[in-house]
Amino acid sequence: MSGGSRLDPWVDAYAARARGMTASEIRALFAVASRPEVVSLAGGMPFVQALPLDALAETAARLVRERGAEVLQYGSGQGDVTLRGQILDVMAEVGITAHPDDVIVTTGSQMALDLVTRVFCDPGDVVLVEAPSYVGALGVFRAYECDIQHVAMDDEGLVPEALDEAITRVRAEGKRVKMIYTIPSFHNPAGVTQGPERRRRILEIAKREGILILEDDPYGLLGFEGAPPRAIRADDDQQVVYLGSFSKTIASGLRVGWAVAPHGVREKLVLAAESAVLCPSNYAQLTVSEYLATQPWREQVKVFRELYRERRDALLDSLEQLMPAGTTWTKPAGGFYSWVTLPEGLDAKAMLPRAISALVAYVPGTGFFVDGQGSQSLRLSYCYPDADRIREGVRRLSGVIESELEIAQTFGTGHVLRNAQGPANPAPDLL
Ligand SMILES: Cc1ncc(COP(=O)(O)O)c(C=O)c1O
Repeated sequence: MSGGSRLDPWVDAYAARARGMTASEIRALFAVASRPEVVSLAGGMPFVQALPLDALAETAARLVRERGAEVLQYGSGQGDVTLRGQILDVMAEVGITAHPDDVIVTTGSQMALDLVTRVFCDPGDVVLVEAPSYVGALGVFRAYECDIQHVAMDDEGLVPEALDEAITRVRAEGKRVKMIYTIPSFHNPAGVTQGPERRRRILEIAKREGILILEDDPYGLLGFEGAPPRAIRADDDQQVVYLGSFSKTIASGLRVGWAVAPHGVREKLVLAAESAVLCPSNYAQLTVSEYLATQPWREQVKVFRELYRERRDALLDSLEQLMPAGTTWTKPAGGFYSWVTLPEGLDAKAMLPRAISALVAYVPGTGFFVDGQGSQSLRLSYCYPDADRIREGVRRLSGVIESELEIAQTFGTGHVLRNAQGPANPAPDLL
C-alpha cells in the first residue's frame, strides 16, 4: 500500500468513479437537525405512521407462517410475476398500459436509476437533467462518470426550448446525449408539474432527436387536485423508460420500486439487476403484493394525499404570512416539496448553521445542481412534520432570513460564504 493518508490508507487505490463519491459536508449538520427540538423541513421522509400498521404486521407475519419457503427464498431477477401484474393496475392510474413482461421490480426506484444508467452510459456521456434535479439521481449519474448538464425549468417544469438548445449545444461540442432525465409530476426538489402540452413537446423533441427519456415518477399519485397527471410513457412505449415506486404510496422502508422499459432495454436491465443483487427481496415484494391484494390501497393513497395537502396548505399559508419581501416559492399541486428563493444577496448554505441554531432545518439549493447554481435557493419538505410544527418551522426560518437581510444591509453581502460545490451524498433521509 503506497500513498494514502492516515485517515484512509486506501485513498490512492480507489477507481476513478469513486472520486465523485463524497459525503455532503452538510451531513454532519443534519445529525444535529434530527434532534427533536429542531423542526426539520429538510428530509423527504414519507409519513409512514399513517399506514394501517397492524394490517401490515399481520400480512408480514402471515406470509412467513403460510408461505415461508417462498418468501424467504431467492426469487426471479425480474421480480415476482404477480406483483408485476399488480403494478400494471397502479400504473393505469397515470394512463400507462403495459404487459407484466415489460416490468422489472427493483430495490426502490433508486436502484432502477442505477441500472438504467449502468446499461446506457459510458463515462463522458451526457445526461440532461432539470435545473434543479433530484440529488439521488445526480449521485448515480456522477458515479457512472456521466457529463451532467442542467436544463432550465419554469413554473411548468422543464422548458422545451431550453431542452432543444441544450441538445444542439452539447452535440456541437462533439458529445453524445444519452438520456433526458425528468420528474414531470410534483418535482423533487422544485415542486412543479409539467402540463400535458409540455409533456407532449418534450416527448416530441426526444423522438425527433432519438434520445431516451428517463421518466421518474414516485409522486404521480400524490396530487392534491383532480386526477393524477398522465405519464409521458402513457403516450409512447418505445422512447421512455418509466420508473415507479411504492416508497411514497406504501412504505419507503420496504424498498420496492420498478421500471417499465421497451423489450430489449428491459432484458438488459434484468441482466444488470442480476449482477447487482441477484433478485429483489421476495419478502418485501410479497408483502407489497399481499397489501395490494387485501387492503384498500387506493383509499390509503387518498389518506396520504389529504394529509400532505393539509401540510402543504400549512406551509404555503405561513410562507405567505411570514416571509420577508423578496422571498419567492413554488406552489406544489402534489408531492412533498416547495422550492424557495431567497432575497438577492443571501446564500442558503451559508445561512444553514444559523437556521439550525434557530432550530429549523432545510436543504440548501446547491445540493440539487452539479455546477454551483442554487446558492440563493433552498428546498422545504412538508411531508413529515405536522401542520403546527410546519408553521413553527416557517416562523423560525423567516426570523433567520430577516436577520440575514439585516446583516447584509449593514455589512453588504460580502460576508456570504459562496460555495460552488456540486452534489455530494447527503444522508438517505434527506433525499
Ligand atoms: C424523484 C425521486 N426519484 C427517486 C427516488 C427514490 O425513491 P425509492 O425510495 O423508490 O428508491 C426519490 C426519493 O425520494 C425521489 O424523490
